Amino acid sequence: MTMAAQAHAEVSKASFGKMPDGTAVDIYTLKSDAIEAKITTFGARIVSIKTADKAGKVDDVVLGYDTLDGYLADKKTYFGAVVGRYGNRIAHGKFTLDGKTYQVPKNNDDNSLHGGTVGFDQHVWTAKEIPAGVEMTLVSKDGDQGYPGTLTAHVRYTVHHNALRIDYSATTDKDTVVNLTNHSYFNLGGLGSGTILDEEIMLASDKYTPTDAGLIPTGELATVEGTPMDFRKSTVIGKRINDDFEQLKRAGGYDHNWVLRGATGETKTAAKVHDLKTGRVLTVTTTEPGVQFYTGNFLDGSFHSNGVTFSKRTGLCLETQHFPDSPNHPSFPTTELKPGEARHWTTTFTFTTEK
Ligand code: BGC
Repeated sequence: MTMAAQAHAEVSKASFGKMPDGTAVDIYTLKSDAIEAKITTFGARIVSIKTADKAGKVDDVVLGYDTLDGYLADKKTYFGAVVGRYGNRIAHGKFTLDGKTYQVPKNNDDNSLHGGTVGFDQHVWTAKEIPAGVEMTLVSKDGDQGYPGTLTAHVRYTVHHNALRIDYSATTDKDTVVNLTNHSYFNLGGLGSGTILDEEIMLASDKYTPTDAGLIPTGELATVEGTPMDFRKSTVIGKRINDDFEQLKRAGGYDHNWVLRGATGETKTAAKVHDLKTGRVLTVTTTEPGVQFYTGNFLDGSFHSNGVTFSKRTGLCLETQHFPDSPNHPSFPTTELKPGEARHWTTTFTFTTEK
């Protein structure tokens, strides 16, 4: 990142309202020459990302609400949020660390999802302006949602020309597990443009982690070869989503973790999405070992914003992450964090257009 790239970014802050207990919530606007992103301190969420299509028309390409009340009323979708302390599922909400078993809330049938009943998405983070962006901080106390250790998490959002970069870091004072990701739902056609089924996606992955009926990985790393999970070549999302394939039927569409090529910590391409109508292209790069490609199968039309109904498959998530239920799978890249260690990881969303 060069100083020149930073010099064009403008950062401003405004009020986004108050929590029921009176806590003030802010919204930051990060504006470069090519994108404008709005980020709120409630759940360190991405509220909107505005970017031009191939004809120069600017639209918001992520699902979200324009008021805090919208977010407070919706405890289901995790629109734009940083999810944690453990993004995605932990089987039976249970794991063992240093010989001790911990129970975290079961808020998704028999499993724990996205950190429990009051996950990081439900907290007001503290924020400070940084060059080209904003840094959000959350201190999650020892025992928060049943997790051991006081965890301090920092999430930095910065804009660089046509890219929004997210830098995560975390430290702890006791052994714990951590898996933070961003839960934005993209629709490159723009908010209100319908489903994402006509968009094409490429996933830079040869293997995925099949799940049981509760969407918990079985532990196997299965090849994508010869299955509707094969996105090594850019493919229209809707083409095989309703195939008679057990993994798809179980999840009601795509809702799986793909294993990325290359080492954890190394920056690599995870995915590339192309909306053929508007020409918008999103490229996702990350240092994480996996990506959850989720096609918004559980969006059921019960939430709305400004005349837009958030119906089934009107947005797709690319949650760069450690694999779901890693604390119960010693063969997966570890999510354990120990005192004295500082873990950093990064994901960048880059927006371009193609004819
Ligand atoms: C999960 C879905 C879940 C969704 C919640 C995704 O990360 O994989 O199964 O329904 O989050 O909005």
